[in-house]
Amino acid sequence: MNYPVWSVPFGSKWLIIVVGVIHVFLAQFAVGGGFLLVAAESWAHRHEDQALLDWLKRQARVFAFLTLVFGVTTGVGVWFTIGIISPQATSDLIHLFVWVWAIEWVFFVVEILSVIVYARTWGRLPRRTHRIIGWIYFGSAFLSMVAINGILAFQLAPGAWSKSHSLASAFFNPNLLPSLAVRCLLCLMLGGLWALISVSFSRDRILRAEVARFASGWVWIPALLMGPACFWFAQMLPRANRKLWDFTPSMQNQTWSLAACLGFLAFLGFAVLWFRPKNLSKGLALLMLLVGLAVVGLFEWQREQLRDPYLVTGLVYSNGISVEDYPLLKQRGLLASARWLSPHLGEAKGAVAQGRELFRVACSSCHAVTHGLNALAPAIRGMDQPYLAALVLRTDLIWPGMPPFPGKAPDARAIAAYLAARAGQAPGPTGGAAIWRMRCGVCHTLNGPFRPVLPTVKGMGPKDISDLISSIEVMNSAMPHWSGTDAERESLANFLAAQEGSKP
Ligand code: HEC
Ligand code: HEC
Repeated sequence: MNYPVWSVPFGSKWLIIVVGVIHVFLAQFAVGGGFLLVAAESWAHRHEDQALLDWLKRQARVFAFLTLVFGVTTGVGVWFTIGIISPQATSDLIHLFVWVWAIEWVFFVVEILSVIVYARTWGRLPRRTHRIIGWIYFGSAFLSMVAINGILAFQLAPGAWSKSHSLASAFFNPNLLPSLAVRCLLCLMLGGLWALISVSFSRDRILRAEVARFASGWVWIPALLMGPACFWFAQMLPRANRKLWDFTPSMQNQTWSLAACLGFLAFLGFAVLWFRPKNLSKGLALLMLLVGLAVVGLFEWQREQLRDPYLVTGLVYSNGISVEDYPLLKQRGLLASARWLSPHLGEAKGAVAQGRELFRVACSSCHAVTHGLNALAPAIRGMDQPYLAALVLRTDLIWPGMPPFPGKAPDARAIAAYLAARAGQAPGPTGGAAIWRMRCGVCHTLNGPFRPVLPTVKGMGPKDISDLISSIEVMNSAMPHWSGTDAERESLANFLAAQEGSKP
């Protein structure tokens, strides 16, 4: 409420995720790649493997370049993006974790300096000293990840902090260790994938096979361990977040896609490369790297979604509005309370203009209007405005990942007017199934896990069901009053009665 809203045409969540995933990919690569370099260096020293040492020396320079240039710029990019898109949550997290950030920046400076020294002094320092610098690099990169991971895990599961409000309880939250485990495995995997892609360019066949075998182990073992680690991660989530997953088919599909990507990586790493390292080609390495990027992306996307309806659980909702601002918004209304709205938004402007601004404040963090992320127009085309306004007022009932509506009925009516104007005119749905989807299926499944309706109407005929629908808000005031036509109600009732018959 205290900051202007910068809405991105195709949905601002996209932007955070894209910038965030690229940065996380590089940041975890900076940990895993660093570990791989120093581990391989130690091995090569012990076995006097000069070919490997020469190769590693070149890789160290590329590594320093990649992490310094891209890792650091995308890191700054993340701060810019979250600062503009979610100023309230960013501010809260900075205030709460100010010492953790300070510590993290110290690690960050050490990390940057040591990677430069490590890459530039290769072959010029005593071997042991050079390895120590490498380990200092790895240690600081790792600890910097531990610090950030604690904050990200807190956003998802604040645990005891909700009661004690101490920094220690915020940082050592229930999700800290499981998500650290997942991230460590991802780091190893990215390190291995990077080694595979770099060595696939080498002309030295012996070196190529040697590194391919070694690096494929860094891919398939973590890929397999990701299964139990993600399971642990899911077990330590608060109940509400797990329920959200149960209710949301799109999130379940994401989990299965993540599992499929991991299985594919484990298969390629183990069956194709571990046994026959000669199989390594540029194409294969690139394919594996892309699947690895998909793994990082899917995990981050899923973690962000699991947190809904919050940006910081219990503190800030996903629309960027503080939880503590809600009572006032519910009492005074959104239009009356929101700062930073256009100053010319009086009554004269009309509902559509007001709705446009209110939509930006309350919904645009997750929804595009006509095209883009969760675009609403296709879903609402053909709805009558009273029904649409009733839905807007009840967002948290439609999907538990949506924050409650931060305003009063007139605000919801304005948003409905705006959405209807943007979606364009369309005839209402015809046929029982389509009517069900529009008027009930938004908040119910027929059977399934999400407020199944069939068990309640079991044994009722079309006439009784129709009567029930016409006074549906009496049965439960959470439901919008029926605003469709009588004919629509009849076909919906017939549809429901027929469903029961087909499934005894
Ligand atoms: C946390 C992000 C988020 C916010 C904020 C949010 N929504 Fe949603 N909304 C979603 C998601 C995700 C879905 C799809 C849920 C699903 O998969 O079933 C959805 C579904 C909907 C639907 C049902 C569409 C359909 O396909 O049936 C409507 C209507 C809706 N939102 C309206 C709104 C309005 C109006 C606002 C602002 C007051 C809002 N939402 C705020 C994430 C959000
Ligand atoms: C805005 C969301 C919303 C819409 C739209 C909606 N419902 Fe509901 N409905 C609810 C909620 C919330 C409950 C309360 C159930 C609960 O708390 O578990 C409920 C309860 C019910 C129940 C009683 C279930 C029980 O045993 O308590 C029936 C039957 C039902 N709805 C049928 C319908 C039908 C038929 C339609 C379409 C005409 C419809 N609903 C539209 C949200 C909605």
